[in-house]
Amino acid sequence: MADGNRSQAVAVPPARAAVVLVLTVRPGPPDPVRELLSDAAGIVRAVGFRAPGEALSCVAGIGADLWDRLYALGRPPGLHRFRKVSGDRHTAVSTPGDLAFHVRAHRMDLCFEVARRLTERLSGLADVVDEVHGFRYFDERDLLGFVDGTESPTGAEAVDTVRVTGGDPVFDGGSYLVVQKYVHDLGAWEALPVEEQERVIGRRKLSDIEIPDSEKAPDSHVALNTITDDDGNELRIVRENMPFGSVGEGVFGTYFIGYASDPAVIERMLHNMFVGDPPGNHDRILDFSTAVTGSLFFVPPAGLLQDPPPAPGRGGEP
Ligand code: HEM
Repeated sequence: MADGNRSQAVAVPPARAAVVLVLTVRPGPPDPVRELLSDAAGIVRAVGFRAPGEALSCVAGIGADLWDRLYALGRPPGLHRFRKVSGDRHTAVSTPGDLAFHVRAHRMDLCFEVARRLTERLSGLADVVDEVHGFRYFDERDLLGFVDGTESPTGAEAVDTVRVTGGDPVFDGGSYLVVQKYVHDLGAWEALPVEEQERVIGRRKLSDIEIPDSEKAPDSHVALNTITDDDGNELRIVRENMPFGSVGEGVFGTYFIGYASDPAVIERMLHNMFVGDPPGNHDRILDFSTAVTGSLFFVPPAGLLQDPPPAPGRGGEP
């Protein structure tokens, strides 16, 4: 393979702008989509070379159904359709998604150009079912006004958190990606006193300092998303959430973008948020924010996209 098990640009420093595209692929032969995935890195290089220093990158993720159509390889072990999570009050919905492109840069024009060039190649083959143009809001805040991303791992720790290792070597260097579009009830949120908002999140609003465990509400977002394995080691994910919205339409949201080496970690966090830990103790952020999409993707190592395994029915498995 041209690039061995080099990972795609998953663990990169926060960008100022992002476009996320989720597409469904129409029935038909797999070749044009395989070719586009193989050429995507070249498209990003062609756009990014003209704007050095703007940190342009693009991650491509593949959903479970499309995987079976593209590659005679068997699915990566954690890849399945996003599983709906239903609690007594709130639901993490599952919505279609065959392909995801997470394009990041410090400038929106670069993200837009890559998104345009990618979709141009998919014209007639795939439909964009969700498109979000995300922006950085002040000092890394979400539209709820809180700093978002503080405890997300960075640098080498981020690479370790997202990189698949130890299974079938063909998937080594890959990652799993979950995206969900959350729409906030900003009126209800802003009607809460700041101290109550801080209780919901589990951190101070202005300073971003975490509320001590002894005072933190058990249904706060931070309490329910701090999880450990049986040996007490913290289980982490890399988050690249982006604010998005439309003032005219009154839409204010957070696009949740989570990467992990094992999607079960994200799934456990979602269980804690929506079902609750213990059940019934759901995340209070959900009383102000509704998940309207949800999809899971495998992010193959770069080499697998560039030099793909055989397509089904052509010398590979059926
Ligand atoms: C409406 C959507 C969401 C918003 C506005 C939001 C916002 C925040 C904020 C403000 C923080 C505290 C600062 C930080 O460490 O980043 C945080 C922490 C965190 N969030 Fe979210 N989040 C959302 C959805 C999710 C989802 C869906 C997950 C996982 C499936 C998640 C996982 C986490 C984790 C793991 C932490 C760090 C906990 C810790 O170790 O302190 N978040 N989020």
